[in-house]
Amino acid sequence: MGVEIRRIQTGFVTALTKIKNKILKKIVVIGASSSSRSINRKFAKYAANSLLLDCKIKELVLNDFEMPIYSEDLQRVSGVPVKAINFKRVISNSDGIIISFAEHNGSYTSAFKNIFDWISVIEQDIWSSKPLLLLSTSTGSNGGKIVLKHAYNRFSFNYKFNIPFFSLPNFHSNYNSKSGIIHPALYKEFLATLSNFEDILNGT
Ligand SMILES: Cc1cc2nc3c(=O)[nH]c(=O)nc-3n(C[C@H](O)[C@H](O)[C@H](O)COP(=O)(O)O)c2cc1C
Repeated sequence: MGVEIRRIQTGFVTALTKIKNKILKKIVVIGASSSSRSINRKFAKYAANSLLLDCKIKELVLNDFEMPIYSEDLQRVSGVPVKAINFKRVISNSDGIIISFAEHNGSYTSAFKNIFDWISVIEQDIWSSKPLLLLSTSTGSNGGKIVLKHAYNRFSFNYKFNIPFFSLPNFHSNYNSKSGIIHPALYKEFLATLSNFEDILNGT
């Protein structure tokens, strides 16, 4: 209940702020999976569309950034691929980033890890000090918690902002495309996480 009231209040304040400042937030959305049927792509976009902010949403589809497997030798010979530079440019030009992680064998998908490695050699500040929201979901009861925790531990080290995170287990039982998250307790937790991210984006 508290969370719902807070969201109504946040929505009201946001509406006023929008009128005053005409702020448009550029939000980058990443489903960290190469699957064409990725539930994490769906979930990341759902989160972005649930924000109570005036947003321009830009999705980075990992399959558009397929590159040779990162190696120091390859970098030395050929430099950083243009695709990695383009990916990083979109990150740098954003106001915030939402990543939802698919978990493969307890870790990042290869598709995400390869892009992560390539962009990590462009600049030490990999996520360009932008506000981050980290999510994960899976078809099982773990909800991709292992990869989410791993990403959180890595990304939050010495980071400029707190990083809110949320994991949705049993995607097909707890989510549908019409209503979004249908499990009441998980929905409440999701809204609280989203509010936290909105506050960070608003600098409040
Ligand atoms: C190679 C492979 C490894 C997987 N490993 C895990 C795992 O370690 N933990 C888990 O919860 N699910 C695992 N899964 C199941 C994925 O979580 C599930 O396929 C989910 O849909 C992936 O998200 P996506 O649809 O966004 O790609 C694995 C799936 C594949 C294909």
